[in-house]
Amino acid sequence: MKDFISPQKAVEILHAGDVVAIPTETVYGLAAKIDNQEALKKIFSIKGRPFFDPLIVHIANLKMLSDLVVKPDPILLELAEYFWPGPLTLIFNKNPKTVSDLITADSNTVAVRWPKHKITEQIITELKSPLAAPSANPFKKTSPSEAVHVRNYFPNLDIVDGGQCSVGLESTIVRINNNNLEILRPGQISKTDLIKFLKTKNHALNVTENFNQEGPGSMKEHYQPEAPLYIFKHRPIHFDHLDFVNKKLRIIAFPNNPFLCARVLYKTLIEESKSTDILTLEWRYDEKDPNWSAIYNRLEKAAKVII
Ligand code: TXA
Ligand code: MG
Repeated sequence: MKDFISPQKAVEILHAGDVVAIPTETVYGLAAKIDNQEALKKIFSIKGRPFFDPLIVHIANLKMLSDLVVKPDPILLELAEYFWPGPLTLIFNKNPKTVSDLITADSNTVAVRWPKHKITEQIITELKSPLAAPSANPFKKTSPSEAVHVRNYFPNLDIVDGGQCSVGLESTIVRINNNNLEILRPGQISKTDLIKFLKTKNHALNVTENFNQEGPGSMKEHYQPEAPLYIFKHRPIHFDHLDFVNKKLRIIAFPNNPFLCARVLYKTLIEESKSTDILTLEWRYDEKDPNWSAIYNRLEKAAKVII
């Protein structure tokens, strides 16, 4: 198996115009310098990702942000100051001089976040360039929360091992839309956290959820494990399902604490898939609870069937 590489080597490879998998607190990313079109194209080809699905730009200081955006909404800047580094992605008007259409899928906006992971902050700082990075998994597959997951997906890729991702779920994505702070993808920073923040700052925005908006990256099938996942939501697990005949079945379960659950979610889907034909899970949490909604959002897309 190919060895993992040092952060220093990652800087060299990125500088020379190639791609590298990097750790973040959410999931591993497949990164390229934002000013290298060939390296950016390589991200899409390695993942098998369509060009209409835009990438998040990762920074390690606020000067980098100011180069990427124009006329930032002051509330977005306050959110950045409060939650960064951390698992929150903010949508800004992009500066077309620094952010290419390849990154943003031809849109006028750019998604930016400052990941909370010392190794990746160090790589971006030394490189003196932001990194565009989607999650480091083939298109539609389960996101990697450990370096070895990336290695199994991409045997020849250069990967920096930064340990197990502490959050385990992709960042919360928000934008300002009229008088709303709109959550486009739920994550560890919850609706409750955002409402609390706005209240503390005396801002009169509403926090709304728009998880299934028509548009980039919100496909129905996503995060899918190798073994099809059956979620029993409306009744207890039962084995009289037609698809289960002559199949090896495995019942998976998660911790009752949503933060611990998020941390092991993808690991469980990836690793338990190896030794079974079918995964089954009994959903016994309240998906309306802001702390569980991001987990349910991922599982709903990862599932083959919800019964
Ligand atoms: O935690 C994360 O966000 C991870 C780590 C690696 O940072 N990254 C990640 O990237 O989840 P990815 O490519 O798997 O998901 C990025 C999603 C896109 O699918 C799209 O839904 C949204 O971010 N996005 C990117 N740019 C956008 C934009 N300009 N407007 C709206 N949504 C955007
Ligand atoms: Mg992804």
